[in-house]
Amino acid sequence: VQPRRSIVAGNWKLNPATLTEATTLLRLLKANFENHRDASSATEVVVFPPFPFLGVAVQELQGTGIQVGCQTIGTHEQGAFTGEVAPSMIQSMGVTYVMLGHSERRTLFGESDTAVNNKLQLCLAQRGLQVILCVGETLQEYETNLLASVVDVQLKKALVGVSSQDVLERIVVAYEPVWAIGTGKTATPSQAQAAHEAVRATLTALYGSHVAQGVRIQYGGSVTPDNIDALMAQPDVDGALVGGASLTADSFTRIVDGG
Ligand code: G3P
Repeated sequence: VQPRRSIVAGNWKLNPATLTEATTLLRLLKANFENHRDASSATEVVVFPPFPFLGVAVQELQGTGIQVGCQTIGTHEQGAFTGEVAPSMIQSMGVTYVMLGHSERRTLFGESDTAVNNKLQLCLAQRGLQVILCVGETLQEYETNLLASVVDVQLKKALVGVSSQDVLERIVVAYEPVWAIGTGKTATPSQAQAAHEAVRATLTALYGSHVAQGVRIQYGGSVTPDNIDALMAQPDVDGALVGGASLTADSFTRIVDGG
């Protein structure tokens, strides 16, 4: 089995407020990355700005090896669907990743497992796009020992109809316990490891161990430069999905570099 290449992603969520601030953050990232990294460096790096800043992100980050992704996608590819954004559109701008199933989309915007699956199919139909698929349990589910079954159902429903080749080559799973998002309450390295084992067990049941061993699983939830090393030291933690700490170029760069 090939070693899994680590992947660190920054989810900017609904930040920053203006194009000027976004450009400043992108330029600081560029300055941190362009001199000592290239696309073949050990860790894959992706940032997920809000839709209006995707174009400038692709432009500013050219040559840095940092890829650009969007935080969700619309429900159709083309036509009379006012307000929607299609995979082909963002792909044609140079965006290479789409995040799907983030808990904020699920809880605040009512995105069901079926909707996540539909969007996933739409993205996979678009060559050149990869997906970060987010799963994770609430505090109540965690406390009642439902972690493994919640994550199992989320994965199985999201992956209906998805081929093993696509799972292996184009999908990264992000495990984000809802109780750790934006709370400063990180899962301990052993809690993260146990959850990632559960994710891999479901992938094994669905696609067999060759595929499951090849899929990268990121941890997300209050990741900082101080806790990244201990998390990454776990055998099934292959990267991080960073929220708050990705809004500062130096902390995000330190997380990519490991502490
Ligand atoms: O997608 C990343 C995220 O939900 C975690 O956010 O701010 O806890 O790092 P944060």
